[in-house]
Amino acid sequence: MLEIKDLTVEVEGKEIIRDLNLNIEEGEVHVLFGPNGCGKTTLLMTLLGFPCYKVTRGIITFKSVDITNLPTNERVKLGMGMSFQHPPEIRGVKLGDMVNIAQGRKEDEIDEDVIALAKRLNISIDFLNRDVNLGFSGGEVKRSEILQLLAQAPDFIMFDEPDSGVDVENIELIGKIMSELLDRNKMPSKRDKSGLIITHSGSIMRHIKADRAHVMLGGRIACSGMPYEITKNVMENGFERCVELCARSKEVDAE
Ligand SMILES: Nc1ncnc2c1ncn2[C@@H]1O[C@H](COP(=O)(O)OP(=O)(O)O)[C@@H](O)[C@H]1O
Ligand SMILES: [Mg+2]
Repeated sequence: MLEIKDLTVEVEGKEIIRDLNLNIEEGEVHVLFGPNGCGKTTLLMTLLGFPCYKVTRGIITFKSVDITNLPTNERVKLGMGMSFQHPPEIRGVKLGDMVNIAQGRKEDEIDEDVIALAKRLNISIDFLNRDVNLGFSGGEVKRSEILQLLAQAPDFIMFDEPDSGVDVENIELIGKIMSELLDRNKMPSKRDKSGLIITHSGSIMRHIKADRAHVMLGGRIACSGMPYEITKNVMENGFERCVELCARSKEVDAE
């Protein structure tokens, strides 16, 4: 579904991602860990084609299409979606209208379907009538992002820290809906959706199963492995030590 080859990205003239390689097959969910500022969000924004993220080297292929230079709206039409870490506040646009648009509807009235989707995320009708993200709490922003994704139903979904600022009760709910969005409840051979989940704390990984995990350091994928092992390693030893241990176990394998 997604192939990233030798990707190098500059932001404001500064190189943030260097020679990054990553493949995500149809039906797979990958998780990406990494310390603050290592380039996780930059990677997602680049994949979605935001103009200030300049690809200076490498190729991004999505569903066999070279999307490296495609505008964001074309990428979204091809089936990409994202839950943003820090989405903007949009004055004058109601959340309900945004969800209508994400579902491909044009009507002004908030649809029954939208209300039903919102209910599943503990989002009330009052909330749907509020301006997008204006005065929302951290956890409300995350649920509003996931509601928009439920309506849009993309084939490849990127989640940028869906767990940050979310309370214990809602994290389980978010994990459940993410699992559904990513076909995790289906048999592996029946899964069509793919995803890339960024998490700083790893707390969402208790509620969603991934196929592969990576640790990003200094703009590169520094190690990859089974989600359970990498998560445990990162939580117990930290990012850098996890990468050192990965490298050491590879040396032992080679011997
Ligand atoms: N628009 C921008 N202008 C300047 N620097 C940026 C911009 N976006 C990101 N950066 C820098 O790129 C680096 C990586 O940021 P980011 O991708 O947000 O990291 P992460 O998501 O892993 O915490 C940081 O040093 C950050 O300050
Ligand atoms: Mg980030």
